[in-house]
Amino acid sequence: MLKIENLSTSYKTIDGDVRVLNNINFEIHDNEIFGIAGESGCGKTTLLKVLYDIIDFPLQVDSGRVVLSVRENGGTTAYETGKIRNAWWKHISYVPQAAQSVLNPITRLKNQFLDSIPEEYRKNEAKEETLKRVAQYMEELSLSPDLLDAYPFQLSGGMRQRAIIALATFMSPSLVLADEPTTALDVVVQRGILMMLMRLQRKLKNTLVLVSHDIGVHYQITNRMGIMYSGSFAELGRTDDIFRDPIHPYTQMLIGALPRIGDKTPRAGIPGRPPALTNPPDGCRFAPRCPYASDRCRAEVPEFREVRPGRFAACHLVQEEAS
Ligand SMILES: Nc1ncnc2c1ncn2[C@@H]1O[C@H](COP(=O)(O)OP(=O)(O)O)[C@@H](O)[C@H]1O
Ligand SMILES: [Mg+2]
Repeated sequence: MLKIENLSTSYKTIDGDVRVLNNINFEIHDNEIFGIAGESGCGKTTLLKVLYDIIDFPLQVDSGRVVLSVRENGGTTAYETGKIRNAWWKHISYVPQAAQSVLNPITRLKNQFLDSIPEEYRKNEAKEETLKRVAQYMEELSLSPDLLDAYPFQLSGGMRQRAIIALATFMSPSLVLADEPTTALDVVVQRGILMMLMRLQRKLKNTLVLVSHDIGVHYQITNRMGIMYSGSFAELGRTDDIFRDPIHPYTQMLIGALPRIGDKTPRAGIPGRPPALTNPPDGCRFAPRCPYASDRCRAEVPEFREVRPGRFAACHLVQEEAS
């Protein structure tokens, strides 16, 4: 459904190019929740923006492309980078990071809905008709249709996030991209938002791409996930397999750092910090923090390869073991 081919991007800054995504290759399938994890600054938001085709200065695609394939008029239509915008709302929608703040605080929710729904989708339907359908949809999501008359500033952060998710899914898109939808919300509200996203995905049988730096979120709701490190994927595969048996040293550390119920021993954090993207190390970017790094790791960038059926990793050690 979504193919990412040899994608590399950079931000053009006065201090030179900040190369953010490096030769990324992967696929996202129909009817799954795909998670993107990784520490802050590793490129998750940049990747999501490219998937949604918001490539504005200073961000630039240096090579590669994204191809979105959707079922339409009894056949399949492919939209690629530069054309994905033509599929916005109807086939692909986006809940940006800190989405609660993208709503105009002084415009009633119903007007924000009307402004967002493309004319061609409404055809010649009267506003009242469209709003009736929106209200009905809100009820299906267990949200009060009265919300439509509210101004965003009157709502809690969690309620605003629910309203945005409702807006993003109103046209039943095949693909929903959500960037840190639960970050900055308290734990109980977070749980409610995750359940809402999960229920929507089950109902629409579409694809949800969920970005979160919180690896616990991925454990709770994603089917497959990719772990990013410094602009590319370290590991990718089925979420339960990754948690049961992480193979990349970075993933092992991330999962090893998670608290476990009943276990009082201190958890090891990950020593060091990610490299600066302006001046990345040669070879594997994780090598400076990796306890297993060899000379080869410090010299040669590991390829991102399928090391077991459905499991991909970019690590010389794993690949040497597997071969
Ligand atoms: N407008 C910009 N100009 C220059 N660098 C940027 C810009 N936006 C993001 N970056 C850099 O790109 C990297 C990845 O950012 P981002 O995709 O937001 O990461 P994440 O979402 O994983 O926290 C960061 O190191 C950040 O400094
Ligand atoms: Mg981000």
